Amino acid sequence: MAPTTHTVLGGAVFLFSALAGAKDSGAPNFYHHSPPAYPAPIGTGNGLPEWSEAYSKAQAIVAQMTLAEKVNLTSGTGWESEQCVGNTGSVPRLGIRGLCLQDSPLGVRAGLYSSAFPAGVTIASTWDDGLAYRRGYAMGAEHRGKGVDVQLGPVSGPLGLFPEGGRNWEGAGSDPYLSGIGLAAAVRGIQDAGVIACAKHYIANEQEHWRQRGENPDVPIEEALSSNVDDRAMHEVFAWPFADAVRAGVGSIMCSYNQINNSYGCQNSELLNGILKNELGFQGFVLSDWQAQHAGVATALAGLDMAMPGDQVFLSHNAYWGSNLTVAVLNGSVPIWRLDDMATRIMASFYKVGRDKTQVPVNLDAWTTDVYGYQHWFAKENYGIINGNVDVRGAHGALIREIAAKGTVILKNNGSLPLGRPRQIAVFGSDATDNPKGPNGCEDRGCADGTVAMGWGSGTANFPYLISPLTALQNKAYQDNTVIQWVVDDYAIDSMHNVAKQADTCLVFVKSQAGEGYLTVDGNRGDRNNLTLWSNGEQVIKTVAGNCSNTIVTVHAPGPVLMEEWIDHPNITAVLFAGLPGQESGNSIVDVLYGFIEPGRLPFTIAKSASDYGVKLMYEPDNLYAPQQNLTNALMIDYRHFDKNNIEPRFEFGFGLSYSNWTYKSITVRKTSAGPYTPFVGRTPAAKNTNVTESPSSLLFPPGFHKVAAYIYPFLSSTSQAGLSGDGEHGPADAYDPSGTPTRPAGGAPGGNPQLYDVLWQVNVTVANTGKRNGEEVVQLYVSQGEQDDPVRVLRGFRRVSVDAGQWTSVIFDITRRDVARWDVVSQNWVVSSAKKKVYVGRSSRDLPLVADLD
Ligand SMILES: *[C@@H]1O[C@H](CO)[C@@H](O)[C@H](O)[C@H]1NC(C)=O
Ligand SMILES: *[C@@H]1O[C@H](CO)[C@@H](O)[C@H](O)[C@H]1NC(C)=O
Ligand SMILES: *[C@@H]1O[C@H](CO)[C@@H](O)[C@H](O)[C@H]1NC(C)=O
Ligand SMILES: *[C@@H]1O[C@H](CO)[C@@H](O)[C@H](O)[C@H]1NC(C)=O
Ligand SMILES: *[C@@H]1O[C@H](CO)[C@@H](O)[C@H](O)[C@H]1NC(C)=O
Ligand SMILES: *[C@@H]1O[C@H](CO)[C@@H](O)[C@H](O)[C@H]1NC(C)=O
Ligand SMILES: *[C@@H]1O[C@H](CO)[C@@H](O)[C@H](O)[C@H]1NC(C)=O
Ligand SMILES: *[C@@H]1O[C@H](CO)[C@@H](O)[C@H](O)[C@H]1NC(C)=O
Ligand SMILES: *[C@@H]1O[C@H](CO)[C@@H](O)[C@H](O)[C@H]1NC(C)=O
Ligand SMILES: *[C@@H]1O[C@H](CO)[C@@H](O)[C@H](O)[C@H]1NC(C)=O
Ligand SMILES: *[C@@H]1O[C@H](CO)[C@@H](O)[C@H](O)[C@H]1NC(C)=O
Ligand SMILES: *[C@@H]1O[C@H](CO)[C@@H](O)[C@H](O)[C@H]1NC(C)=O
Repeated sequence: MAPTTHTVLGGAVFLFSALAGAKDSGAPNFYHHSPPAYPAPIGTGNGLPEWSEAYSKAQAIVAQMTLAEKVNLTSGTGWESEQCVGNTGSVPRLGIRGLCLQDSPLGVRAGLYSSAFPAGVTIASTWDDGLAYRRGYAMGAEHRGKGVDVQLGPVSGPLGLFPEGGRNWEGAGSDPYLSGIGLAAAVRGIQDAGVIACAKHYIANEQEHWRQRGENPDVPIEEALSSNVDDRAMHEVFAWPFADAVRAGVGSIMCSYNQINNSYGCQNSELLNGILKNELGFQGFVLSDWQAQHAGVATALAGLDMAMPGDQVFLSHNAYWGSNLTVAVLNGSVPIWRLDDMATRIMASFYKVGRDKTQVPVNLDAWTTDVYGYQHWFAKENYGIINGNVDVRGAHGALIREIAAKGTVILKNNGSLPLGRPRQIAVFGSDATDNPKGPNGCEDRGCADGTVAMGWGSGTANFPYLISPLTALQNKAYQDNTVIQWVVDDYAIDSMHNVAKQADTCLVFVKSQAGEGYLTVDGNRGDRNNLTLWSNGEQVIKTVAGNCSNTIVTVHAPGPVLMEEWIDHPNITAVLFAGLPGQESGNSIVDVLYGFIEPGRLPFTIAKSASDYGVKLMYEPDNLYAPQQNLTNALMIDYRHFDKNNIEPRFEFGFGLSYSNWTYKSITVRKTSAGPYTPFVGRTPAAKNTNVTESPSSLLFPPGFHKVAAYIYPFLSSTSQAGLSGDGEHGPADAYDPSGTPTRPAGGAPGGNPQLYDVLWQVNVTVANTGKRNGEEVVQLYVSQGEQDDPVRVLRGFRRVSVDAGQWTSVIFDITRRDVARWDVVSQNWVVSSAKKKVYVGRSSRDLPLVADLD
C-alpha cells in the first residue's frame, strides 16, 4: 500500500490544509510524509456478531434521515453551546437527542456527587485486568447516571515514550501490551455499563509541548508538532493497544492534536482509513480532539466521523462541518455515502452499548457547578436547572480504595513494613495533607498544593472528598493508641529535626505533578521539566532520614521520579510509589503500610538518570513551521531500551516487592495445532447510496426556526451558500470510489487478521507462596523474538494471582501468533520470523527464573 515515492500530494496536510486555508507557502519540505489511503472503509458490522444487530438498527434509522439530520449527528454544536464538554446536533423528528460527550478517563469531569477514581497509572500498577474492568464499569455507570453518551476515555496515547510526558498518567502504562490489556478492560467495563467508550488519543501524541498551534503564545508555530514514526514502531508500539480496544468493541476513537508524518491526526488518511478502519477493522466512529480538526472535506475523506466541539476553534462561531458539510455533500466534494457511513457508525455504537435503553436526560453541566444556569451556556439561553446533582457514586469508594492500594508499589522494604502498632509516628511533607485551597481549589487540578491524587487538565474530575494520608494515618493512630505528630510545611526544616527524632516511624510524603499542556504549573507546560521531586522533596527526605533511623518514603507522582540522591540512605527503610490514587488516597496508603492489602508492580522503568531513557522530549521547537519530533527509538520504548543497551535501571519495569515470598517452580510449553497464517483477502464494503436527492432549497433553515446564538447548524442560510462552483476543495479520485478497496492482508476483523489471535503455544507455570502470609503475585511472561533488531524481550502475558501461604498455583498463558510476530514493512503484514524464540516467566522484566524454548 505504501507508495515508494513520497510526493507532496501524498501528505494529506499539504494537499488539504492548504486548500482549507492553513498556510503552506514557504513550508519546508520535510522528509516525513504519510501516504494516501482512500476511499474510507464503510462500516457494516457484516459477519461480526458483536456489531451486526447494532448495524441493522443503525442502517434502518439512518435510512430515514435527511441530509441535514445526518450532518447533525456528525457535527458538534460548538464550544459551550450545550451542557456537556462536547455535544452533537439532534434528530428531533426521530426522537434522537444530541449526544453528550464528557471527559474524563478517571470519572465525570466537572461532576458533583460523582467519584474521583485512581488515574490510569495507578490502575496499570495493579496489573489486574479484573479490577480494570470493574473500574471501567463503575465509571461508565457514573457517566450513564449523569446522562453522558460518550465517556472520553480510556487513554493509550501518550503511551509514555517520554517519562516527562504530561499526560502519561492518564494512560495504562508504558508498554504496548500492558496498555492494550488495560484499554480493552476499560472499554468493556464502560460499554457494559451502557456508555460509549472513547479510546484516545490516536496517535503518537507523546508530548504536550507543540501539540497545538497557539498553545504557547510566546512561541508561535504555524502547524502542530509532527511525530514522525516508522511503520514498524507504529504497528508494534503505538497502534498495538488501539488494536486491543477495537477488538474489545470500542465505540469511538479520538484522533489527536499532533501531526504524524506531517499530516494531522484527524486528516491522516493512512492512519484513519488505512490502519484503523481497514487493517484494524474498526466499526465505530472517529471523533476529533477538541479543535484538532483543521479542514472540512479533507477530514471527511480521510475518515473522521464526528467534529468536536464543532466550531473551527473555540467560539469562532463557524465550522468546517455543520452547514459546510451539507454544502460539501451537495457540491460533490464529500460523497453522500461517506456521510451515511459517518452517521451509521455513530448510531451503530449508540445501539451497540444500549444507549437506546439506558439514556437518561443530561443532568450535569460542564461550565458551572451552579444548580441553575443557562442550558446554552455561551448564548445565555434557556435558564433552568442544569446541574441535577444526581448522586451517581454508588459504593464506588470501596473499589477506589482497593484499586489505589493494590496499585501502590513497594520499591524498598528492609523489614519496616508492614507497620504493626508503632508507639509514635511522625508524618512529613505537604504531600501528606490537604490543599488549603480545597480538593478542587485549583482549576482542573492545575497545582501541586497539598497531596497529589490526580494530574491536571481535562483528564480530571472533581473530588467528592479527598482523604489525605495524614487524615487516614491519624484515624489509624487513634485506633492503635499511637502518638502522631507532623510537619507538613516542606520548608520548615528545623521543625522537622525535632519531630523526626522523637518518632520510631517517620513517614515522608513527597510528590511530583504533570498534566495537560493548556495549563502551566510552576513553569511546567503540561510535560514535566525534570524527573526530580517537587516542593523541596529531596531535602525533606534527607532531613528526616538524617534524624530518624526508620524513614519510610511514599511518592505520589504521575510517572517515574529519580531516587538516586536518597534511595540508598541507610535510614530509609522503605519506599513506596503510590501513583495518583484518587479520592481514597489516605485510606489506601494506610492499607498498604499496615499490610492489609497486597501491593502492585511498576508499569514503567525508574531509571538512575533521565538520560538513561534514551529519548528527548522536544521542549524547544526545532523549527517554527511544524516542529519535527522523530520518534526513532519508539520500538525500544521503556524497558526495551534498557535491556537492549544493558543499562541498569534503579527499578525495572514490572518490579515491585510483595509481602510474601514466591518461588517459580516449573514451566511447560505445549504447542497447539493452530493452522498457518494466511493474508486476509477481501474488500471493504461497497457504498449503496451514491445519489444526493435533496435540493439546496430543502436544506434551508425551516421557516420560523429559532437560532441559538453562535450555534453550529446543518442548515443553509441561503441556496447560494451551496456555492456549487466546483473550484474548491476536492480530494483524490480514489476517495470517491464507491466500490470500496481491498482489505489489507493484516486485516479482516476488529483487531486485525483473526489468525493473529490463534493460540500457538500454551505455557503452564507453577508458582508457590513460600512466605508466611497469604499474598498476591503478578506473574509476568516475556517473549524474546530472536532477531537482531528485535527488542531483547517483550511483555506478552501477566496474571495477578492470589495464593495462600504454603500453597501453589498453576497459571496458564496463551501465546498467540500476534505475540511472537513482527511487523514486516515490505509485505505490510505480521510475520513470525524463523529466529529461535524463548519464553521467560517471573516477577519483573529482569527477574525471570523460568525459561523455555518456543519451538
Ligand atoms: C511515516 O513515515 C515513515 C517513513 O519515514 C514510514 O515508515 C511510515 O509508514 C509513515 N507512517 C505513516 C502513518 O504515514
Ligand atoms: C439539528 O440539531 C439542532 C440542535 O439540537 C436542532 O435544533 C435542529 O433541529 C436539528 N436539525 C435537524 C434537521 O434535525
Ligand atoms: C465554512 O468554511 C469556511 C472555510 O473554512 C469558513 O470560512 C466559513 O466560515 C464556514 N462557514 C460556516 C457557516 O461555518
Ligand atoms: C534493604 O533492602 C534492599 C532491597 O529492598 C537491599 O538491597 C538492602 O541491602 C537492604 N538493606 C539493609 C540494611 O538491609
Ligand atoms: C523540578 O521541577 C520542580 C517543579 O517545577 C521543581 O520544584 C524542582 O526544583 C525542579 N528540580 C530541579 C532539580 O530543577
Ligand atoms: C538532625 O537534627 C539536628 C538538630 O537536632 C540538626 O542539627 C541536624 O542537621 C539534623 N540532621 C540532618 C541530616 O538534617
Ligand atoms: C540515621 O538516624 C540516626 C538517628 O536515629 C542518626 O543518628 C544517623 O546519623 C542517621 N544516619 C545517617 C546516615 O544519616
Ligand atoms: C528527523 O529525521 C529526518 C530524516 O531522517 C532528518 O532529516 C531530520 O533532521 C530529523 N529531525 C530531527 C529534529 O532530528
Ligand atoms: C520473604 O519476604 C520478606 C518480605 O519481603 C523478606 O524480608 C524476606 O527476606 C523474604 N525471605 C526469603 C527467604 O526470600
Ligand atoms: C443514481 O443516479 C443515477 C443517474 O441519475 C441512476 O442511474 C442510478 O440508478 C441512481 N442510483 C441510485 C442508487 O439511486
Ligand atoms: C464544496 O463545499 C465545501 C464546503 O463549503 C468546500 O470546502 C469545497 O471547496 C466545495 N467544493 C468544491 C469543489 O467547490
Ligand atoms: C499445569 O501444571 C501443573 C503442575 O505440573 C499441573 O498440575 C496442571 O495440571 C497443569 N495444567 C494444565 C492445564 O496442563
